[in-house]
Amino acid sequence: MKQDFWHQCWENTHIGFHQDELQPLLIEYFPQFIEAEDSRVFVPCCGKSSDLLYFSKRFKVIGNELSAIACRDFFHDNHLIPNIKQTLRFNVFEQGNISLYQGDFFSLKSDSFKPFDWIYDRAALIAFPEDMRSQYVAHLKSFIQSNTRVFLLTLEFPQGEIIGPPFSVTQSEVEGLFQGYEITKVATRDLTGQKFARRSLPVSKLVESLYIIKG
Ligand SMILES: C[S@@+](CC[C@H](N)C(=O)[O-])C[C@H]1O[C@@H](n2cnc3c(N)ncnc32)[C@H](O)[C@@H]1O
Repeated sequence: MKQDFWHQCWENTHIGFHQDELQPLLIEYFPQFIEAEDSRVFVPCCGKSSDLLYFSKRFKVIGNELSAIACRDFFHDNHLIPNIKQTLRFNVFEQGNISLYQGDFFSLKSDSFKPFDWIYDRAALIAFPEDMRSQYVAHLKSFIQSNTRVFLLTLEFPQGEIIGPPFSVTQSEVEGLFQGYEITKVATRDLTGQKFARRSLPVSKLVESLYIIKG
């Protein structure tokens, strides 16, 4: 999607993707996969997700988000007051363990950061149309080092039934995008007839999947 689309979503509070509660598959599965020395998480296209707070209890969290409204709202909604620094391309909102880099993901340079143990993708890959997903994953891979694991959540549904975002991303697409990486499908949730975050998607089948991907 074009950046204007997302800026307008935030300006008009059209944020049906935002989950008020923590992501259930994160809470259920993430603790099983953490290693003792893990300490850093990267969250691309993070919105104002409450999952950032979940990670920050134990990890240093670097988020990236296009919208300044989302970054401001994240701290405001959680009664936190961030320091705001400006770099060439990003405003950086920082408080405690959380740093949000506000600006375009595709301009964020992985070599500006120490390696990440985890990358958390909830509603980032599936927010992009097919032609942008390969571009997104190509850039995401620059953040994947030898010990980085990606905690990836996708949705699958009959794509023709709605105009995205979100977009349906099948297992075979995940396998294609991350060819050469170790991919484990850990869990699925059948959400048919249930809301996806704040939205009721008018689709006949809706399945959420969790993959763990290793470099
Ligand atoms: C579907 S939302 C998901 C947000 C968050 N991951 C969550 O779970 O609530 C996608 C987010 O990606 C952000 N986004 C879109 N394009 C971006 C880009 N090029 N760089 C950084 N963020 C972007 C949007 O502003 C939006 O907040």
